[in-house]
Amino acid sequence: MEFKIDGTCGNARACIIKTDHSEIKTPIFMPVGTAAAVKSLDAIDMMEILNTNIILANTYHLYLRPGDEVIKNLGGLHNFSGYKRSFLTDSGGFQAFSLGNNVKFSDEGIEFKSHIDGSRHFFTPEKVIDIEYNLNSDIMMVLDDLIPLPNTKERIKKSIQRTTNWAYRSLVHHINKGKKNNLFAIIQGGTDFEFRRISAESLVSLEYKGYSFDGFAIGGLSVGEENQLMYDTIEVTTPYMPKDKPRYLMGVGTPEDIIEAIDRGVDMFDCVMPTRNARNGYLFTSFGTLRIKNARYKLDDNPVDSSCECYTCKNFSRAYLNHLFKAKELTYFRLASIHNLHYYLTLVKEAREAILEGKFKEFKKEFYSKRS
Ligand code: GUN
Ligand code: ZN
Repeated sequence: MEFKIDGTCGNARACIIKTDHSEIKTPIFMPVGTAAAVKSLDAIDMMEILNTNIILANTYHLYLRPGDEVIKNLGGLHNFSGYKRSFLTDSGGFQAFSLGNNVKFSDEGIEFKSHIDGSRHFFTPEKVIDIEYNLNSDIMMVLDDLIPLPNTKERIKKSIQRTTNWAYRSLVHHINKGKKNNLFAIIQGGTDFEFRRISAESLVSLEYKGYSFDGFAIGGLSVGEENQLMYDTIEVTTPYMPKDKPRYLMGVGTPEDIIEAIDRGVDMFDCVMPTRNARNGYLFTSFGTLRIKNARYKLDDNPVDSSCECYTCKNFSRAYLNHLFKAKELTYFRLASIHNLHYYLTLVKEAREAILEGKFKEFKKEFYSKRS
């Protein structure tokens, strides 16, 4: 992986990440394609209509169904899904934690029962790397020990120690397997600033045979804490993350969260919000959220957002989307998902342009003023 900083504005960064499959300009939003598909869309939609250069997939889901060996036999995620650009795979710890039942965390790994058929499975850091190699993802996340918030000091301390230990085991296994693709570590520590520093410093200092991680993520946020506390936690963490490597904030968030995190030095984001909200009838616009089922759109021939240049806004009206939503037509899900993803992708693209022009503060101010 190649990484280059194109420009900065305050703490905000505009960078380029080059993997074997695509060039990713940051700040970047990565659409979530948990089971190797962004819900209601296909690979051609992602490449040709939305022009995304990286999407997320999930180790937990793909290991359970169809199985990572199946995907390996079919040429890895790129060939299997038809999406020829970059994939990032989350490690599955978060999903085992939120979807599995009877989840047992130990120093060795995570034992869980499948949410599909109740079968028992055991994830170790090494096993997760093996699965991610089979998937052939461009960016692999290590298995981490995620905990709910608020939590006790003892449990947070255990979480960061275990996360560091597992990250090291992942790195060793990855290097010994021949160092294919790229591996990111995940910083934990709840909303305790001191634990965040310790977690970041320990992960950054890990090395095996002269190799370190290719990037670092901030995990364990957006799990119920106040927004400002999340922003403060990000702000105290990024200074301990290497300048010359990508910084990824996992599972965050609203458009506001993304702007605030960019302002604090984060480069990469993923969240189910644009696609999930689209399916539930909430559309993002430059002037705030639009609820498409509202009766006022029944005869409205305007696009969702007249300043939006997405495929949906260029071709279809609010009235048509209002009808499709109410009729539960499958086409609604695709059109609404395209619009919301385009909104997120445009937001980060404009943030990048503002950073390169040295005008990120002005951009942020304008972003907030349009929504109020
Ligand atoms: N997705 C959102 N937050 C997290 C996290 O802390 N760890 C992992 N592995 N995935 C996440
Ligand atoms: Zn649109």
